[in-house]
Amino acid sequence: MVRRDKITVPVLLEMKRRGEKIVMLTAYDYQTARIEDAAGVEVILVGDSLGMVVLGYENTLPVTVDEVVHHLKAVGRAKLRAMLVGDMPFMSYQASVEDAVRNAGRLVKEGGAEGVKLEGGRRMENVIRAIVDADIPVMGHIGLTPQSVHHFGGYRVQGKDPRSADRLVEEAKFLEDTGCFSMVLEGIPSQLAARITDAVTIPTIGIGAGAGCDGQVLVVNDMLGMADDFRPKFVKRYGEFEKLMAKAFAEYIADVKEGKFPADEHGYS
Ligand code: KIV
Repeated sequence: MVRRDKITVPVLLEMKRRGEKIVMLTAYDYQTARIEDAAGVEVILVGDSLGMVVLGYENTLPVTVDEVVHHLKAVGRAKLRAMLVGDMPFMSYQASVEDAVRNAGRLVKEGGAEGVKLEGGRRMENVIRAIVDADIPVMGHIGLTPQSVHHFGGYRVQGKDPRSADRLVEEAKFLEDTGCFSMVLEGIPSQLAARITDAVTIPTIGIGAGAGCDGQVLVVNDMLGMADDFRPKFVKRYGEFEKLMAKAFAEYIADVKEGKFPADEHGYS
């Protein structure tokens, strides 16, 4: 069902209660956000993945609050029906609770976010409570958390052994108790994600976590095939945009070189 009412926290909770799947996608610019929103995407995330797919960084760690705010503003100009969530970049919430509240506040006040997402479970307790106390909805994010890439020693699936699986279930329950309105489950076995989804009353949004979650999220550039050689197992391609763009650019170059563009109809008399 494509929803026409504004998507808010209560709407997302109700969707979980009714068993209606939640669709989330990232966006980093006005036009993409406008098209996603018109298509019926329910949550639009300005993820710190913007560092890799838009800004060309090697990982998400260099992303700054200013950069997220800049892209939130662009996305927000699409006047979304979707709920707009801003990602808290690395080191914008780890050093102190005060930093965390101030930076979450910037995403809302300057960027127009309607909620923020941050990585980590129990160790983020004080930070999550303080942001929620400031009336800013918080989306948790556990499992393969990309900001922990150096700690994990790479992008590795988490929760594969019984002990770490049990720990992730506890972390998920903890996020719910701490006041998160939803959580991303990234890079964990499908059975574990389904177990977590049953164990909490807030929506779980999966990426590389199987079909048992309450919703799914993908990085828009990945699902559109903007980087042809990036083919992780958890991404389904809904477009071949790198190929399409390369073909369009090649045709444009040939037309200009051969004097075929502009033709008469592209000029003014
Ligand atoms: O930064 C991001 O895009 C994300 C999603 C993949 C969940 O965190």
